Amino acid sequence: MDKIEQTAAYVKLSLDGAEAGHDWWHIYRVWQTAKTIAVKEQADIEVVEYAALLHDIADSKFNNGDEEIGPQKAGDFLRSISVNEDTIHHVQQIIRYMSFKASLGNVRFQSKELDVVQDADRLDAIGAMGIARAFSYGGYKQRGFYDPEILPNTNITKEEYKNSNAPTINHFYEKLLLLKDKMNTAAGKELAIKRHQFMEMFLEQFYGEWEGRI
Ligand code: ADP
Ligand code: NI
Repeated sequence: MDKIEQTAAYVKLSLDGAEAGHDWWHIYRVWQTAKTIAVKEQADIEVVEYAALLHDIADSKFNNGDEEIGPQKAGDFLRSISVNEDTIHHVQQIIRYMSFKASLGNVRFQSKELDVVQDADRLDAIGAMGIARAFSYGGYKQRGFYDPEILPNTNITKEEYKNSNAPTINHFYEKLLLLKDKMNTAAGKELAIKRHQFMEMFLEQFYGEWEGRI
């Protein structure tokens, strides 16, 4: 097994039993998508693969908000298989700033490889996979599919968003349809546009079926 395969095996084992939105198969998809984008963007493939594989190794959501556990665990693992220190440091920064960049406005670390992995992670929230994840999450939270009387809240704060009881369709307007304009890379944007169109087709079909029109 090479070091990338060893990393994949480690992540797969660590995420055993994780919920469907953040399970091994989410990591697998982000990994594959990140590789596709990395080639087109001529990013450092090795850094991208390690970061994609390790980006959710210890989500702060499930660790009392601690943002350092993820980078720490990733670093410990990469050191145990003798990856070089520069690569380890870069991977740790990516894991740190993938969530920081999203939650805080001021960016303090930037790299092409961060852009690639963040795009791949966002792409997994849209398209067919985004639809599947949204309804899976909605089911887990016991939310309805749709209620014409509950309008989407597009000025939603992060807290309201987490505690919301709104139906799953609203999540498309509150988050998923906004993601295509948040892509970092040209290759990511191209994929996002296709996945975005697929969600729009889905919504049109959904409303048509809801009213028995189609
Ligand atoms: P991430 O860890 O990628 O920032 P979240 O934990 O917020 O994402 O969400 C995981 C998955 O669940 C994503 O695909 C996201 O779109 C979906 N999701 C999050 N909140 C909602 C919601 N209110 N309704 C439906 N799906 C949601
Ligand atoms: Ni992720």
